[in-house]
Amino acid sequence: MSVERTLLIIKPDAVKAGNAGNILAMLEGAGGFRVKALRMEQLTRESAEKFYAVHRERPFFGDLVEFMTSGPCIPMVLEKEDAIQRLRGFIGATNPAEASDGSIRALYGSNIQNNAVHASDSSESATVEIPHFFPEIAVGVA
Ligand code: CMP
Repeated sequence: MSVERTLLIIKPDAVKAGNAGNILAMLEGAGGFRVKALRMEQLTRESAEKFYAVHRERPFFGDLVEFMTSGPCIPMVLEKEDAIQRLRGFIGATNPAEASDGSIRALYGSNIQNNAVHASDSSESATVEIPHFFPEIAVGVA
């Protein structure tokens, strides 16, 4: 296991609901993730379509882009030992109804689309997703 960096986005539903602070506190506190970069940003359609390009052919793609551009989101780079897999566990399953008790999506997600947060699902994804938002941040740990 090694120290890794991964991308997390607090999505527009969680920002709108005023849950960003609680989510960040969970990530830094119980999660033990270190924040290496963070900002609030309103995604353009172009940026959202590019970020989720892997889902372009899925039936939910149009709704997903509408949702992700519906208000500001908070992308951030998180660092920790084995960060990518640990963060996936910490946020819970994509569908909040199936997310484990105490996970971020169980606590703050509403449905399979409005699920409060996104996290990179593999090191290949993190390598693309970190520079999408933070081209100035190294993907690997020095
Ligand atoms: P995320 O982890 O950001 O990855 C893709 C997103 O598409 C997902 O979270 C949800 O917000 C959204 N989505 C909507 N419907 C579905 C679905 N049926 N399966 C997976 N993701 C979905």
